[in-house]
Amino acid sequence: MKVAPSILSSDFSQLGKEIKRITEAGADYIHIDVMDGVFVENITIGPCVVAAIRKLTEVPFDVHLMITDPARYIKAFAEAGADIITFHVEAAQNVVETINIIKSYGKKVGLSIKPKTSVEEIIKYLKLIDLVLVMTVEPGFGGQKFMFDMMKKVKSLKKEIQAKNLNTLIEVDGGINEKTAQIAASNGADICVAGTSIFKSADIKQAIENLR
Ligand code: DX5
Ligand code: ZN
Repeated sequence: MKVAPSILSSDFSQLGKEIKRITEAGADYIHIDVMDGVFVENITIGPCVVAAIRKLTEVPFDVHLMITDPARYIKAFAEAGADIITFHVEAAQNVVETINIIKSYGKKVGLSIKPKTSVEEIIKYLKLIDLVLVMTVEPGFGGQKFMFDMMKKVKSLKKEIQAKNLNTLIEVDGGINEKTAQIAASNGADICVAGTSIFKSADIKQAIENLR
């Protein structure tokens, strides 16, 4: 299992130090939650912050756009240094067009679904994307409880990916700790996002290793 610490749970007053800390602790990706206060009820990070922290680490940036009409901001996040740009199937006006915009900047494409969205909404796009992000909490805030029900989606995505011989990775996000990471991995997840369980632990290196 690859591990993507979510900086949403980091100490924003020490963001630079936090980026260095998770880099040294061995993060596989750095997960950056972008929220617009419309698609979800919270406002977080914009492209200028991504550009600022880009200088501090070589670890790939996994940018999770929880914003309405994400196509409008692909260019800004691509130029700020995102490596993977993930948007929500529920938020895009035209999913295929948005995928193609991300590809046109040479970035990896992720597509995400909220807990209430059925897995069918995303299955049809699997061959066009690099990563599928299954939300295991309602997006908007860190520190929520893992929704075990979402494992059905992970299972059917894995089945589909294997049947079609695709390389699409499955990522899970929300309520991930040692226990739930193991459950997600056994259902087919390749990457886990974790905020609280990493940043609130006394030894983040150990926390990442345990998740892995
Ligand atoms: C929620 C975000 C998550 C969040 C996860 O909307 O997408 O990435 O930071 O936080 P934890 O690990 O605390 O559930
Ligand atoms: Zn996220």
